[in-house]
Order: sequence, then structure tokens, then C-alpha cells
Amino acid sequence: MKHEITGDSQHRQTRLRLQSEKFSALLGAESAPAHQEEMQTITTAVDNLLKCTGFQGRARRNCFDYRLEKNEVYLPGLPPAFDGYTILHLSDLHADGLVDEGEGIMRIVETVPCDLAVMTGDFSSEEAGAHYEPCLEALAPIVRSISAQDGIFGVLGNHDLWEMVPELGRIGVQVLLNEAAQLRRGTADIVLAGVDDPHYYKCHDLKKALAAVAPDQVVILLSHSPEIAAEASRYGVDFYLCGHTHGGQICLPGGIALFANTSCIRSYVSGSWKCGTMQGYTSRGTGFSLAAARLFCPPEITLHTLHTGSLPCDFYGVIEENIGKLFNMTGHAVYA
Ligand SMILES: [Fe+2]
Repeated sequence: MKHEITGDSQHRQTRLRLQSEKFSALLGAESAPAHQEEMQTITTAVDNLLKCTGFQGRARRNCFDYRLEKNEVYLPGLPPAFDGYTILHLSDLHADGLVDEGEGIMRIVETVPCDLAVMTGDFSSEEAGAHYEPCLEALAPIVRSISAQDGIFGVLGNHDLWEMVPELGRIGVQVLLNEAAQLRRGTADIVLAGVDDPHYYKCHDLKKALAAVAPDQVVILLSHSPEIAAEASRYGVDFYLCGHTHGGQICLPGGIALFANTSCIRSYVSGSWKCGTMQGYTSRGTGFSLAAARLFCPPEITLHTLHTGSLPCDFYGVIEENIGKLFNMTGHAVYA
């Protein structure tokens, strides 16, 4: 299914200005050494900690120990024609950093045909500059290995540049820039909307993305991070897909994230969650960033299956969500 990407000139100008300001701050003569020193300090500290504890080799191997996670989603208003609809979800590929050139990912996705594939941002590892060609080179074979009847859609993350949008389109990823596409099965349709990065660039515009949604239509939203979950819930989104947190990447046993680089509550850091009546899912990410290390937090490829009907009662989920809100437990920035 081909979606006509329109974008918006004001959005484009704002995004390009913010990118330029970010690059100047990161690459400017005065601030560059400080930033690079900070990044190097974090990477060295993580490496040394892993070396001292004997976990360095294990943590590196874990980066390629991909898990196929399956998530069953019950949506009351889902047209019966979409019952059993499958969505393959990749996130935070940071494709130019995949030293196995994506082979591990392709081995899995080749075996998982789906109705739709989505990528929730951070295709690239680049923090600044326009060197996204290595990312696209690494991404292209992964995209080709995906078999999705309705195509592959994505949104930009805080590592991604506006300039990548047409290039992503050329290799087969249709980027939704505060806009929506219709997914059809027979005479029934649902909406797939996507917003620009709400974490760093904050160029997301839910109002615009959802402007053409009919009152009774089921809406699936792609957003790079979970940080606009409450706002999306108020706009009537039914299912919210995101990543960005890497699930913490380096965690305590049980997957308890030490850092998550978001301002959202901890229950949104990985896996499935609820915000009001909206259901959400945060991927632990398929790639990694900063240090090639994962502990108690394996990379994931997710297969969501939609079902028509009510969500089975999740008493403990509701308790967890509300305790999280009560204590406003948030993550803090270490990697982006
Ligand atoms: Fe990110």
C-alpha cells in the first residue's frame, strides 16, 4: 500500500532549524570537546564497569541475542475484518552500528510474514551531521527481508534527520510526518498515524496527525518515545507504539532499568502498558546505542496481533500504572 507523504513546509523549516542548532551545539568549536568528552566518559565508565565485573563479553553478545516478542492486543472497536491483523514492530535499529550487518535481525523477520511492519524511529546512530548513508546502506537489506502486505511505515526519532525521509521512502519505509494513512480490509478501515520525534525535537503534532480521523475509527499511533502517551490518550488513540528507551539497555536482574532517558513513568519504559483506555507498547529496541552492551534487557523484534473485543481484566496492570503515577517515577538521561 502506497501512502502519499506530504509533510508540511512550516514543520520542515522548524525541524531543519532545530537540527542545525543541535549540530552547531554539538560540533561547535567550544562545545564539541565538552560533548565528546561527556559521551566518551559515559562509554568508558560503562566499559570499565563491565570489564571489572567480567560482564563485558556477555554484554556485547547480548546485543545480538534477538528475541521475538508476541503481544496480543484487544481493541473493542476493531472491525472484524481486522481480527488477527499482525504488525511487525522494529525500533531503535541504530542500523549503522550493527556490526553483524543486520544478519541476526533478518534471520528472524524473514520467518515472520505480517500484515503491516512499523519502525518507531532512531534508524541512525549519528548524533550530528548528515552522514546517514551508512545507516541507509545497513537498513536496506533489513527492509527487503520484511514481508508486509500493507507495507512498512515509520516515524523519525531523535537521532534521525529530516533529510532521510525521501531516502527512507526509496528503500521502502514510508515515514509519517504528523500525518495518517488508512489501512483497509474489504470495506472496513482503521487509521495508522505517526508523529515526528517528541523527545528531543518535540516536532510532534497530534492534532494535525489525527485531523482526518472519523469519531468511531480505531487509531494506531506511531511515536518515537512514550512521552506523549497522556496527550495521545486524550486524543482518542487506541493503540500507541513506541521505543526510544531501549528498555534501559543495561538493567538489573528482572529487566529493571537503571536509566531510560525519558520523562515518563517507569511502567512505560518497556513492554505493554495502559494509559486510561489507550493501550501502549514500548519496544526495548532492536539495536543499541553508545556502548555495545545489553544486560538483562535483550534486543527485541515484536509481533503484535490485533483482536476484536475487550481487553481481559488486568487488575495488577491498573494497580502498577496508578502506583507509578502516584510516585511519578521517571527515568533519567544517560544515552539517547
Ligand atoms: Fe531515541
